[in-house]
Amino acid sequence: SSCISCCSSWWSHVEMGPPDPILGVTEAFKRDTNAKKMNLGVGAYRDDNGKPYVLNSVRKAEAQIAAKKMDKEYLPIAGLAEFNKASAELALGDTNEVIKNGRYVTVQTISGTGSLRVGASFLQRFFKYSRDVYLPKPSWGNHTPIFRDAGMQLHAYRYYDPKTCGFDFAGALDDISKIPEQSVILFHACAHNPTGVDPRPEQWKELGAVVKKRNLFAFFDMAYQGFASGDINRDSWAVRHFIEQGINVVLSQSYAKNMGLYGERVGAFSVICKDADEAKRVESQLKILIRPMYSNPPINGARIAATILTAPDLRKEWLEEVKGMADRIIGMRKQLVANLKKEGSSHNWQHITDQIGMFCYTGLKPEQVEQLTKEFSIYMTKDGRISMAGVTSGNVNYLAGAIHQVSK
Ligand SMILES: Cc1ncc(COP(=O)(O)O)c(C=O)c1O
Repeated sequence: SSCISCCSSWWSHVEMGPPDPILGVTEAFKRDTNAKKMNLGVGAYRDDNGKPYVLNSVRKAEAQIAAKKMDKEYLPIAGLAEFNKASAELALGDTNEVIKNGRYVTVQTISGTGSLRVGASFLQRFFKYSRDVYLPKPSWGNHTPIFRDAGMQLHAYRYYDPKTCGFDFAGALDDISKIPEQSVILFHACAHNPTGVDPRPEQWKELGAVVKKRNLFAFFDMAYQGFASGDINRDSWAVRHFIEQGINVVLSQSYAKNMGLYGERVGAFSVICKDADEAKRVESQLKILIRPMYSNPPINGARIAATILTAPDLRKEWLEEVKGMADRIIGMRKQLVANLKKEGSSHNWQHITDQIGMFCYTGLKPEQVEQLTKEFSIYMTKDGRISMAGVTSGNVNYLAGAIHQVSK
C-alpha cells in the first residue's frame, strides 16, 4: 500500500493555496469588458495615458551600455561594485561620514524583496540578541512572509489611525517604548505601503530617540526614494537622521519604482557598521549567505542603474523624471479631492492629499470597495487602498463620481 500511495502521486497531500490578493484583482480586471474599467490594485507607475512608463534616462543608459558591447560574465557575489557604492551614496548622501570612513557594506540584491530577504536571513543568523521583529500595522503584505520564512518572529506596533486616516503617532510611540530592548524594528523610510502615511521630521526625531533609548535595532525599507516627495534627499531624511544620532541601521533599497526598473530586479542591502573593519567582516558573511541562495545577482539592471547614478547628465535627467512621476501623483491626489468636492461629497478627504507616494488608503469599507468593483468596474484591494499611479486626468472624474456614489 505504501507503494501505491507514493507511486500514484508524491503530492496528493498538497492543498490548493489561496490566490495572491493583488494578482487576483488584476485577473478580475482583465476579465471585465467595461470600457471605463480602472485597475487601482497594481503597484507600478503609469503615465497620464495609463501606460507603463520607461524613463528616458533608462533608455539612454541602455543605449550606452549596448554600444559598449560588454560581456555578460558573472558578477561577483556582492554584485557590481560601482552600483553598490553609488547606491550607498544615493541613500546616505555622498558626503556622509559613513561613506568617508568606509564603515558600511552594500551588496547588490534582487530588488527590494531580495534585499529584505538577505537582510532578514542575515539577522536570523547573526543578530545576537533576538529573533523578534516589529512591523508597523499595517505593513506591506510581503514583509511578514519574508521575515517569517527567514526564521524571524513577527510582531506589530501601532502605526495607522483609521479615525484620522493618518499616522497614529501617540500609539506608535507608546508601543515602541514597550518593545523589549534589543529587538528589531522595521520602518518604511518614506511613502509607507499600503497607507501612504509617513511621520513628519519632528516625529521621526522622537521615534529615533525612543529607538536609541530602548536600544532597538532599526531596519529601514526604502523602496520609494524620490518617489514620495520628488526629492531623493528629502525622502531619505529619516535614514540619515537615525545614522546621525549614532543608530547603526540596516537598509533595503529598490530601484523598481524610482527608476521604473521593476522587472530588472535591481536593489541593494546595506549594513552600517562601527568601523571599516567590522564592515569587512560583515561583508564576508553576507557573501557566504548569498552564495547558496542565488550565487550572484543579475547584471543588466545594475549596469543601467550604475550608469544613471554615475553619469552627471543622466543623473540630472533621472532626478527630473523622478520628480515628474512624484508630481503627477501629487497632482492626481489634488484633482481627486477637487472632483469629490465638485460631486458634492461632504466627507473630509484631506487625507488623500496628506498621504504620499504611490498608494492612498482611502478609508473606504470593504462593502464600498465591492460596490465600486461591481457597479463601476473599479478594481482595488479590499482594504480600500488605491494605487494613485492608476489615476489619470482621463479617469479621475469617473473615479471621484464613483467614490461619491458609494460613500454618500
Ligand atoms: C514597502 C515595500 N518594500 C519593498 C518592496 C519591494 O519591491 P521590489 O522587490 O519590486 O523592489 C515594495 C514593492 O511594492 C514595497 O512596497
